Amino acid sequence: MRKFFALTLMTLSLTAFSSFAEERSLEDNMKDAEKIFKAIGGSLTDASKNAENAAAALQMAEIMKITKEQVPTHLQEMPEAKRAEAFKGYQDAIQQSIDLINQLAQAFTDNDNAAAKAIYRQIKDHKQDGHDQYDP
Ligand code: HEM
Repeated sequence: MRKFFALTLMTLSLTAFSSFAEERSLEDNMKDAEKIFKAIGGSLTDASKNAENAAAALQMAEIMKITKEQVPTHLQEMPEAKRAEAFKGYQDAIQQSIDLINQLAQAFTDNDNAAAKAIYRQIKDHKQDGHDQYDP
């Protein structure tokens, strides 16, 4: 029963959190994701923080799900004919980020800090590529 309440509370707060982030700009959401990402980066190999980091990664994934539906400034400035294709590429790249962040959460849940470290690096590289292409 207790578990049920905890789960309900978590779902409610995630929902509230998601609708909050939806009203924010892409840049604001990315900045929030960055704060969480940096906090995780500071305790990647600290096994005592694994539960906390798993929850933080899931929260980051929720923010990235919202950014997937937001149109980057760079795309808004493109000729309309090119926009749809570019947006699809952007959404695919964000989805890859979300998948990696979920893998990161799983690595923490599995107490596999070596995997967490490797996946964290992959997310960092992926983020760099995404910014090179969509936030030039
Ligand atoms: C994975 C973690 C990521 C984090 C933590 C992150 C973080 C950030 C931050 C902090 C900014 C603001 C930069 C500034 O102040 O100038 C930003 C902007 C931006 N990011 Fe990310 N980013 C991530 C992944 C990605 C990916 C994969 C893409 C593209 C597929 C992307 C696309 C963008 C774009 C387009 C902007 C500019 C916002 C706008 O156009 O209004 N980001 N990001």
